[in-house]
Amino acid sequence: MNMNDNPIISQMSMMGHEQVLFCNDEATGLKAIIAVHNTVLGPALGGTRVWAYNNEMEALNDVLRLSRGMTYKNAISGLNLGGGKAVIIGDARTIKSEALFRRFGKFVNGLAGKYITAEDVGVSPLDMNYVSMETQHVVGLPGKSGDPSPVTAYGVYMGMKAAAKIQFGSDSLTGKKIAVQGVGHVGEYLVKHLTEEGALVSITDIHEDTLSRVAQTYGAKIVAPKDIYDIDMDIYAPCALGATINDDTLSRLKCSVIAGAANNQLMEEQKHGVEVMKKGIIYAPDFTINAGGVINCFSEVQGLSAAWAHSKAEEIYTTIHSIVKRSQDTQIPTYQIANKMAEERIEAIGKVKLPR
Ligand SMILES: NC(=O)c1ccc[n+]([C@@H]2O[C@H](COP(=O)([O-])OP(=O)(O)OC[C@H]3O[C@@H](n4cnc5c(N)ncnc54)[C@H](O)[C@@H]3O)[C@@H](O)[C@H]2O)c1
Repeated sequence: MNMNDNPIISQMSMMGHEQVLFCNDEATGLKAIIAVHNTVLGPALGGTRVWAYNNEMEALNDVLRLSRGMTYKNAISGLNLGGGKAVIIGDARTIKSEALFRRFGKFVNGLAGKYITAEDVGVSPLDMNYVSMETQHVVGLPGKSGDPSPVTAYGVYMGMKAAAKIQFGSDSLTGKKIAVQGVGHVGEYLVKHLTEEGALVSITDIHEDTLSRVAQTYGAKIVAPKDIYDIDMDIYAPCALGATINDDTLSRLKCSVIAGAANNQLMEEQKHGVEVMKKGIIYAPDFTINAGGVINCFSEVQGLSAAWAHSKAEEIYTTIHSIVKRSQDTQIPTYQIANKMAEERIEAIGKVKLPR
């Protein structure tokens, strides 16, 4: 970078972003950043997060990283969508109002469909309803495609079976010992699929009420949050936080498959992505296996049915299977294979689009 270069534009060009919109509105207290990473495949779709960032640079880094992740997720899932994301800076418990979300909606509308927004952390369907009063470029509204979590859980279940097929020679999860970390929206639906198939499921969560309700409903075994990495298991399903695959947990985990819904599961992508492979663990890349949610959003954008979303999420089986196969044939970590497959699709479709 030259001394006189703008550090934000330099970072955008390093990460391949097309456009970043900074939004500021004194009247409503809105401070937001919308990042459009790549629109080769279609409009950039990704949720809006409300978060009390420590400072504005932290918010910028987050939105740049998350929007780039959406490009890869949408590309590998075979969707005609690019990657984008928005962050609203502030504490979701105090900053939210109708006026703030409507003002944000006006900024989204200014992008004229280049960015389509949706719910993310700190945002509810009601908030999105306010956004929709100012723009049509929003999905996940009440009464539309609905909660994406069941579709996400189904995709994770399919991806887990594909990884099991390669690791254990069969995609049956009957009798498999599976540890599910986090039994919130996605985790609970996943536990349902797994117990219905006869897997031996252990669960953990920091909310004790949820934990005992889910354990009772599906006959799962309760484990304390701090002990989840040490139990005897075939499959680890992280469905709570990111970065749970790290130096500490890798020395403790006894699983041979990692397949879960959480985003950014590898604490350091390069280091831990290689280490899981060296330990003989099959890691199902997070942005591939958890794409059911965005598939559900896409169905709303296109006016497609819930049945379509379900069958598209089923394709995650084939995608994970081919990633793992390619990884085993080449000895390249699964996360790198997944990145490459997403980049290959963007490059190929980019060529189709050129001669306009
Ligand atoms: N909801 C979706 O459709 C979707 C789509 C893609 C990715 N994801 C990702 O999947 C994960 C789960 O999403 P969700 O919608 O179910 O969220 P959620 O908030 O409903 O559930 C997360 C659960 O994890 C628990 N938890 C938090 N910290 C924990 C800890 N240290 N140990 C054990 N449990 C802990 C919470 O108490 C909560 O019950 C998140 O990382 C999310 O980003 C979700």
